[in-house]
Amino acid sequence: MPTTAELPNLDAVDRLGSAIAQKLKVGDVVALSGTLGAGKTTLARAILRHLGHEGDVPSPSFTILEVYEPPSVRLPLVHADFYRLDDPSEADQLGLEEYRADAAMIAEWPENVGGFAHDERCLQIDLSLVGERRIAKIEPGKDWLKR
Ligand SMILES: Nc1ncnc2c1ncn2[C@@H]1O[C@H](COP(=O)(O)OP(=O)(O)OP(=O)(O)O)[C@@H](O)[C@H]1O
Ligand SMILES: [Mg+2]
Repeated sequence: MPTTAELPNLDAVDRLGSAIAQKLKVGDVVALSGTLGAGKTTLARAILRHLGHEGDVPSPSFTILEVYEPPSVRLPLVHADFYRLDDPSEADQLGLEEYRADAAMIAEWPENVGGFAHDERCLQIDLSLVGERRIAKIEPGKDWLKR
């Protein structure tokens, strides 16, 4: 069942990022969808900070994948931005399954690789701007309900 959270400011994003980072495990995907400027990268950065990462988090829009490894983070994490993928066959060449076997993943523009909607390890978050309000629709996969 989806829940809705208001994200009126960056502190609220930080708290959501902290809650996600505490529960995150290898094999998970946090799928961040939403329009340009909705706050996907901001939430991804908050999660990474709460996993222990200090310093910059480059946007992976050009590299597509950025990998973070312990000890600077609590667990291996791949930060992906699939915005530039326009052909689903390009996704096959990235080896996403191999990455997911050994790391947690934060995926921006998940719809460009077919989405993760039926994955029980997926936490789907849809960010939107409704007038002045910023809203997160959060849909936990089955595995997340136990946490
Ligand atoms: N909940 C929020 N409250 C206030 N400002 C926010 C919030 N979320 C994001 N922002 C601000 O909105 C701007 C755009 O955010 P961000 O770059 O994270 O969006 P994005 O969804 O990754 O966009 P793109 O699709 O272009 O990569 C940033 O300046 C960020 O600081
Ligand atoms: Mg972004």
